[in-house]
Amino acid sequence: MKLAGKVAVVTGSGQGLGRAYALYLAKEGASVGIVDLNGEKAEQVAGEIRATGGRAIAVRCDITREEETLRMAQAVLAEFGRIDVLINNAALFSTLQIGPFMELKLPEWNAVLAVQLNGMFLCTQAVIPIMEKQGGGKIINITSGTIFTGKVGYVHYLTSKAGVVGFTRALAKELGPSNITVNTLSPGAVVTEVQRETVSEERWQFIIKSQALRRKGTTDDLAKVAVFLASPESDWITGQMINVDGGMSLY
Ligand SMILES: NC(=O)c1ccc[n+]([C@@H]2O[C@H](COP(=O)([O-])OP(=O)(O)OC[C@H]3O[C@@H](n4cnc5c(N)ncnc54)[C@H](O)[C@@H]3O)[C@@H](O)[C@H]2O)c1
Repeated sequence: MKLAGKVAVVTGSGQGLGRAYALYLAKEGASVGIVDLNGEKAEQVAGEIRATGGRAIAVRCDITREEETLRMAQAVLAEFGRIDVLINNAALFSTLQIGPFMELKLPEWNAVLAVQLNGMFLCTQAVIPIMEKQGGGKIINITSGTIFTGKVGYVHYLTSKAGVVGFTRALAKELGPSNITVNTLSPGAVVTEVQRETVSEERWQFIIKSQALRRKGTTDDLAKVAVFLASPESDWITGQMINVDGGMSLY
């Protein structure tokens, strides 16, 4: 097992890709903090992991609130004794309000930046002192392949996801001396268990034809790379972005 003895926190792991990261990390031996605004869903995922012999706790947490992120980190520390990995995955995505830029209102813009950027900032600040005390750690920030292609109606989302890349690069340089790696994982379009009315079958066919590899991306495709970035196999990689999109964008 690649992550035996490690402890990971995955934000937004009550559903979708976050859930897949959590299940894969647990399968590789990690104890996992299932962190989500939706406490019931977090409990379900933690239950799924425990049912297969893994270790997990659910922590209901609004990552935009500092007191909650600090409490979340302490809850995981109290349960498992350390934190080695943080995956900043939570985002306004499946519930995102999309539309023309001129119809975008400031509260929605602020809400997206608050979850995607402030949430990442607060969760990272909450775990760094713990990682530093332990002598190292791994932070994985989730962006989106749409930052390469652009996307109509998604200016708030793309702005936030481009910010994730800057955050990663700055922090990688700053935390390297503490032996903490900081990388970005960039998913292309992926099928999760969450129905998305915005992605019709016709749209899928367009996406598949634009990729070098002609099939839909799966949560497994992403979770395997998350395990790599969380494991010692990636110890000499920091400040990078790994694009997992079937060859949609080549850069
Ligand atoms: N699914 C895709 O095709 C795809 C493609 C590119 C990038 N991504 C990125 O991957 C990540 C996960 O995508 P997904 O499809 O699973 O999204 P999703 O919308 O299905 O899940 C997001 C999760 O984040 C949680 N969340 C939202 N606000 C929160 C808050 N304030 N505090 C704590 N938790 C909160 C939600 O409750 C939910 O469980 C996102 O960062 C998304 O931008 C997804």
